[in-house]
Amino acid sequence: MAIEQQAVLFVDDEQNVLNSLKRLLHDEPWDMFFADSGVKGLEVFGKEKIDLVISDVRMPGMDGIEFLKRVKQLYPHVVRIFLSGYADHKAVVQALAEGSAQQLLPKPWKDEELKEVIRGALKQAEGLQNKNERLQKIINSLTALPSMPHTYLKVKKCLADIDNVSIDQIADLIEEDTSISAELLRWANSALFGQRYQVDTVKRAVLVLGLDIVEGLILSESVFRSVAPKAAEGFDLKTFQTHSIACGITAKLLISELPYMEPKDEDWAFTSGLLHDIGKLIEVRYFNEAFNKILITAREKNISILKAEYEILGTTHEEIGGYLADWWSLPSFIVNAIRWHHEPALCNANREIIAAVHVADVLVQQFALGSSGNYSIPEADTEIWARFNLTEELLASIKESVLQSMV
Ligand SMILES: [Fe+2]
Ligand SMILES: [Fe+2]
Repeated sequence: MAIEQQAVLFVDDEQNVLNSLKRLLHDEPWDMFFADSGVKGLEVFGKEKIDLVISDVRMPGMDGIEFLKRVKQLYPHVVRIFLSGYADHKAVVQALAEGSAQQLLPKPWKDEELKEVIRGALKQAEGLQNKNERLQKIINSLTALPSMPHTYLKVKKCLADIDNVSIDQIADLIEEDTSISAELLRWANSALFGQRYQVDTVKRAVLVLGLDIVEGLILSESVFRSVAPKAAEGFDLKTFQTHSIACGITAKLLISELPYMEPKDEDWAFTSGLLHDIGKLIEVRYFNEAFNKILITAREKNISILKAEYEILGTTHEEIGGYLADWWSLPSFIVNAIRWHHEPALCNANREIIAAVHVADVLVQQFALGSSGNYSIPEADTEIWARFNLTEELLASIKESVLQSMV
């Protein structure tokens, strides 16, 4: 069978840019398509099977940011790259953070660098295509995707209108849910958030924790609650929740060790850690038989859950969880942390947060805090591990802080 040629689409409103790309790449082994606007680019997608799209940012009519956003929605397996002279342009940085494009190529480009990036991206596209088909099959087998938890949805709506909403109103809304209120009070009084005085009202808890943490805690609490307790041998929901909480705390502490990080990054790492393994909850709830097989295979072959998931399901809790988080329109740092926490080097956005969750996931298993369902402790990416400069003393102090902070 002939190997199908990969295809690259270039979109730029300047004809001379398209011409020089055509000249430069004419003897490369991939098919090329060219369009001088976003609208025409989308037309090409309607007719051709595209693997990689490289788009200019500044274009009249539909700009590159809007164009790649649409491509992401319509053709999620296609790798997307910005070609832009405005690397520091706020909108581009924002679009990269939101995952509209995975990479940015400078304009003017260096010929060899451009070719290298395209080759790498096509390799990535090949992998995504294979994985995506298996994931899609699994997702399609669900009659309906689990809906976003109700309490979270209400609070999220309220937070979206933050300029016109008071803390009292947010607190009132949270108080309607007693178990979430209790959870927020427990965290507000924990060592992790350094309270010296007793926090005894939800309003005070919201002020102490901050809105990012509150949102993350409500989300994770309601997700854990909404998973009906279906059993799987070797997977205990309680110890799994401990694993998730410990991972959130550890990721926050790791971020605080890095230079140039802001308190917001610590909060985001905490939430991402809480939710990183959400895909396993979907597996235990909706693919219970397969999940039981995964656990047995992991144990019998002494391999990680991730490897066993590939064998049994053809996809993983990273992919399933990432898909669901995206479907729920969760913030992109959470989607990325869920999607890439075992392969942190493959994601270019939210790098520190993903790195912290990746290392935290391994550390809490070394500390034997809770259980992720793994029988053997997975290994961390050595380069990413090295970023945190984890000396014996630091490890001991992190472990101590995590133990003190567990609520
Ligand atoms: Fe995981
Ligand atoms: Fe984990």
